[in-house]
Amino acid sequence: VSLTPTSFCPLVLASSRGFNLDVEEPLVFQEDGASFGQSVAQFGRSRLVVGAPLEVVAINETGRLYDCEAATSLCRPILLNTPPEAVNMSLGLSLAASTNLSWLLACGPTIPRACGENMYAKGTCLLLGSHLQPLRTVPAALPECPNQEIDIAFLIDGSGSIDGNDFKQMKNFVRAVMDQFKDFSLMQYSNLLKTHFTFSQFQTSRSPQSLVDPIVQLNGLTYTATGIQTVV
Ligand SMILES: *[C@@H]1O[C@H](CO)[C@@H](O)[C@H](O)[C@H]1NC(C)=O
Ligand SMILES: *[C@@H]1O[C@H](CO)[C@@H](O)[C@H](O)[C@H]1NC(C)=O
Ligand SMILES: *[C@@H]1O[C@H](CO)[C@@H](O)[C@H](O)[C@H]1NC(C)=O
Repeated sequence: VSLTPTSFCPLVLASSRGFNLDVEEPLVFQEDGASFGQSVAQFGRSRLVVGAPLEVVAINETGRLYDCEAATSLCRPILLNTPPEAVNMSLGLSLAASTNLSWLLACGPTIPRACGENMYAKGTCLLLGSHLQPLRTVPAALPECPNQEIDIAFLIDGSGSIDGNDFKQMKNFVRAVMDQFKDFSLMQYSNLLKTHFTFSQFQTSRSPQSLVDPIVQLNGLTYTATGIQTVV
């Protein structure tokens, strides 16, 4: 298999449990769709389904699947009516075929969804049948927005392996994110653990940004699992 930036040249293999590459007479499939070849699933003895998740298909539609036939070396777009809520999903970023070849699952994880002040990236999958006909979406519906405000606990790595400039950048990142959301706490870890501010300290602070200023890198070893366990 060889890859070029905008096209993809897969080799067609007969279905088998072994792995053979025909390097003498490869079949080449080529399409101009952006990111064509990002994902590939063999579906049937001589058919490949190829994803082009970055292809802009319509105003709110990104990603397309192609049905590629070994006999002709030709690909044609699979026409699917994606559900209207699957806005810009990047269809085909991942593909999986069931071994009995009756199901193909094509997913896209980039559906923008505004929940309150925040943007979420949701994902959905299309389940296709043996004739590449749509059966249903998985999950059946996109998850609802969480009905609670979101609290964010920062856990930053202050161990000795973090360069001093990178630690400064981390603090700047924390300040930038604090501009966007409401509720924060922050803990730093190395082999030591230090709670720099709690949610209630954040909420009662007149100048939350200034809570970040005095944070000094702890140095020491990198006890990541302990840090995560403690902050949770
Ligand atoms: C694109 O999606 C947005 C958000 O869901 C919607 O408001 C808009 O009407 C859609 N535009 C078109 C042309 O479908
Ligand atoms: C979907 O992506 C297109 C660019 O391909 C963009 O113009 C459009 O605003 C996006 N739609 C939404 C709802 O974000
Ligand atoms: C094909 O495989 C899927 C997943 O393993 C299974 O759920 C389905 O029942 C199978 N279909 C047939 C027709 O065997």
